[in-house]
Amino acid sequence: MTPLTDQNTHPIRFIKRGQIVTLANVPPARTLLELLREDLCATGTKEGCGEGDCGACTVVLGEAVDGELQLKAVNSCIRLAHSIDGMALWTVEDLATTNADGGDGPLGERGAVAAERGGEVLHPAQEAMVQCHASQCGFCTPGFVMSLFAMYENHVCKGRAITREQAQQDLSGNLCRCTGYRPILDAAQSMAALPRQSIDAAGLLQKLELLAPVLIPPEADLANKSAYRSPRTLSGLLSTRAAHPTAQIVAGTTDVGLWVTKQHMQFDHVIDVSKTRELRCINQHPQHISIGAAVTLTDAFAALVADRPQLHDFTARFAGLSVRNSGTLGGNVAGGSPIGDSMPLLIALGASVVLMNVRGTRELALEDFYTGYKTNVLAADEVLAWINVPKPTPDEFMRIYKISKRFDDDISAVCLAISMQIENGVVIKVSIGVGGVAATPVRAIKTEAFCARIGWSKSSVDAVSGVLQAEFNPITDMRASAAYRVQILGNLIQRFWLESQGLQNINLQAFNMEAAL
Ligand code: FES
Ligand code: FES
Repeated sequence: MTPLTDQNTHPIRFIKRGQIVTLANVPPARTLLELLREDLCATGTKEGCGEGDCGACTVVLGEAVDGELQLKAVNSCIRLAHSIDGMALWTVEDLATTNADGGDGPLGERGAVAAERGGEVLHPAQEAMVQCHASQCGFCTPGFVMSLFAMYENHVCKGRAITREQAQQDLSGNLCRCTGYRPILDAAQSMAALPRQSIDAAGLLQKLELLAPVLIPPEADLANKSAYRSPRTLSGLLSTRAAHPTAQIVAGTTDVGLWVTKQHMQFDHVIDVSKTRELRCINQHPQHISIGAAVTLTDAFAALVADRPQLHDFTARFAGLSVRNSGTLGGNVAGGSPIGDSMPLLIALGASVVLMNVRGTRELALEDFYTGYKTNVLAADEVLAWINVPKPTPDEFMRIYKISKRFDDDISAVCLAISMQIENGVVIKVSIGVGGVAATPVRAIKTEAFCARIGWSKSSVDAVSGVLQAEFNPITDMRASAAYRVQILGNLIQRFWLESQGLQNINLQAFNMEAAL
């Protein structure tokens, strides 16, 4: 093992306003928001919650993916600064232009407005917010503008209309406490009518190529003393892990980032797996898909929804888009939070995890990965490499339910996922994953055993409900009381029964709204 006695790090290189920025000696646990506000004095980006919940700190990152420029909104407060090495970065200061022709055509009316504003031409994301009166105190506005900017590039500039539903989903990670969302959603939908102002993707891709790392053999990489390492290959990652078994492994840092902002933790040494090529891949196999541990939640969920469209609404409720754009499926699984939402789903789907070190590979059922509250079977030199998820069978009936206080951007009090196969009215296979009821995400083994080959009827469902309620002893905490959690397990089984009888897609939002009227 190579001891590290200082915090030397490789310089961070990224593109901002078309220029390559190089910053040396950035500590490994420095957040991107700290870098912006404290080191670069770019204070347009705000800090609200410091934990990925409000979106005030939203910035946009650009990355070359398979020869295309991919833009995504992320939370800078919990993102480590080193993770943007090799990317393009936009903050709210970068959108307005001051030249006479800020877009890809003559300015016309915009020229006159620009003249009134001292020559500044607002980006359509900003102009739409102004025209729709979508800002009051303004604290949340830079974050909303950056989410709108990503939406503009990913939809308007690609010729796709922004629907109300799309706008709501893409802004689900941005909170506003005083304006109200109607004018902000109006702004999202009115950007397309404004004079076009798109970025020069081809030019940026060329510049990003200049930042592409030179691949060096793992042995040579091990010789460097950087306190922040981003292995580009799986073999490089495994040898780095073997040499530094106590280093903090990170990916999107949507969880580890809170250790920094809330617990003021510092790390002597970080291994970032988010740029490890093999772990960023999703591979399709005849019977299953393999999702690399560094695949973002956005991309992993898209792959799961492609196989099981009924998961769409659930995946859209996992945190907000900016968290899903950074966080990884591997990070959620490895973190092992009892209220992590992907694990009940993966357990119900029969997923397994593939663990690797320099000596070999082992695969085990996801529920066997956990040993206790946020602890797991990973050896010191092992990494979580893949999550294998079986494909659906034609007779699979699968549902997942998330119960939380807010509909969007919230953490589950209880999460229940059930996959069932019924033949001639008899349960021939069932798999149940549960979150929020134990120290780890769990499989409901006793309930599954009870269901084996029972007739699927209203009376047997009542019995199943009782068995599930008795299987766990949840705790009372700020999200829900133990009694509520037990009650909700029974209610959700009843809901699953109703949906299995053809009452599909019960709309909880509609129920809640009706209840409130
Ligand atoms: Fe609230 Fe970053 S400051 S999400
Ligand atoms: Fe005040 Fe949104 S304008 S919080």
